[in-house]
Amino acid sequence: MVLSASQVKAWERDGFLVVPNAIKPAHCDRLMARAQGIVEDFDPSTVSVFSTHEQTRASDAYFLASGDAISCFFEEDAFAPDGTLRQDKSLSINKIGHALHDLDPTFDEFSRQPVIAEAAASIGIADPKLLQSMYIFKSPRIGGEVTCHQDSTFLFTDPMTVVGFWIALQDATVENGCLWAQPGGHRTPLRKRFVLDPVGGTRFEILDDTPWPEPGATDLIPLEVRKGTMVLLHGLLPHWSDVNRSERSRHSYTVHVIDGTAEYPPENWLQRKADLPFRGFARLATLGS
Ligand code: FE2
Repeated sequence: MVLSASQVKAWERDGFLVVPNAIKPAHCDRLMARAQGIVEDFDPSTVSVFSTHEQTRASDAYFLASGDAISCFFEEDAFAPDGTLRQDKSLSINKIGHALHDLDPTFDEFSRQPVIAEAAASIGIADPKLLQSMYIFKSPRIGGEVTCHQDSTFLFTDPMTVVGFWIALQDATVENGCLWAQPGGHRTPLRKRFVLDPVGGTRFEILDDTPWPEPGATDLIPLEVRKGTMVLLHGLLPHWSDVNRSERSRHSYTVHVIDGTAEYPPENWLQRKADLPFRGFARLATLGS
């Protein structure tokens, strides 16, 4: 097993685990180059969500279609009032999601590295299924805050099994918007679920009013990590990341894994077409050095 007994113990105690040097720097570089290629090929005019009063409905549709697609999402502040980009397209994207791991060969190979598969097995995921993938840019000055949340809100299973495998493709610091996590916070209840609304679009279903840990308070700690570090995040763990106030980007990649033995509800926002079912780690990649 790739994780030691003490690492598994720390994971169970804290609800997260930092694994330095898990991914080779060259593999990080390859993924970053591929993401750059996807952005270069992306035509922003295909996303009409910022120019009409039907913004919410259109963005809902684009978002909901991204579960089995490779879709680019802009930062909230990317556009000037006249609809033009404030800065270069490559510095305006918030993230790419959510089926990179199944549709793009470079991401497929990266997501199915033995180190990720073995880490999933180490923490007891019996029948791992790769559910969604996100490439996060967190660009200098424009990279926005991700408010405190639990991943099970968005990726619910019964019982709850989702685990995030977050990989730093660049050094992450407080200045450029690293992750912050609440040690032991995975023992707090799920606050809400993000579900499909029967009348269209999505909505939050409130489950519990337990307060979130406050940014700046001692119960939320920064996870400053080097490039190539893998951070495992329990689905109930409250975590947060700040805006990027620095001049350096903070690229990262997350693949979320669920246990196929759990029920995957039809009201989850992320639904796959029948011809693209969730897959496990079966096609393990053999990457070069
Ligand atoms: Fe998250």
